[in-house]
Amino acid sequence: MAPLARLAAVLLACLLHVDGARVPGGITFPDVDPALRAVVAVAKLAAPKGMKSTGRGFVTLIVPRPDKGNSTISVALTGSMQSVTMAHIHLTNASANKPIRLDVLPRLSSAKPTLLNPPLSYKGNLSFASGFGDGSLRMWDAGMDLTRFVQLLNDGVLFFNVHTAANPAGEISGKFVCQEPCMWLLCGALPDGSHC
Ligand SMILES: *[C@@H]1O[C@H](CO)[C@@H](O)[C@H](O)[C@H]1NC(C)=O
Ligand SMILES: *[C@@H]1O[C@H](CO)[C@@H](O)[C@H](O)[C@H]1NC(C)=O
Ligand SMILES: *[C@@H]1O[C@H](CO)[C@@H](O)[C@H](O)[C@H]1NC(C)=O
Repeated sequence: MAPLARLAAVLLACLLHVDGARVPGGITFPDVDPALRAVVAVAKLAAPKGMKSTGRGFVTLIVPRPDKGNSTISVALTGSMQSVTMAHIHLTNASANKPIRLDVLPRLSSAKPTLLNPPLSYKGNLSFASGFGDGSLRMWDAGMDLTRFVQLLNDGVLFFNVHTAANPAGEISGKFVCQEPCMWLLCGALPDGSHC
């Protein structure tokens, strides 16, 4: 790309980055410190069609550019649920049996899905949060790191799933929607001397 075109693309990307807190469908993205240059994605959790649950939830993923900070996932459940046993990020790929890509509840030290013991029931609000990095992702897929994870968010192929004793395959779930442009901006110095 010609230098001028490249500069224009960088500036456009920077503009897009601070724009668009809302996407059609009413999803609102959180305000995240722009200095983190973070990729932000959210998922609304509800029972899949044909199933019922008194639980609902909202998940926020913040994946800063790796030189800027560490990644976090925050989960806020509302309503009520009985005997929550596990919660994970999964890949939507059904032919691969929707494999886990990150353990969130409980956090694990090996790639072996393990039930919370005892399971967790709540009424009102239940929130939990966790940090993660390349190591947590590689545990489930040797080819995975934060860069690949961001690509999967951009592809729209990751979802969050809350498993319960009554619904071991998942009681509430939701697909991650990534805030545009869903990539880390790797730009150099801008003409005014600031850095992107
Ligand atoms: C990221 O996590 C590592 C390991 O927990 C910690 O040492 C480091 O200070 C964290 N970096 C930031 C920017 O928070
Ligand atoms: C889905 O999983 C199958 C089986 O592991 C694999 O061959 C295929 O490439 C995957 N598809 C995508 C889009 O990742
Ligand atoms: C429960 O969560 C909802 C939605 O996140 C929030 O509006 C409400 O204030 C919370 N209630 C309590 C008691 O924390």
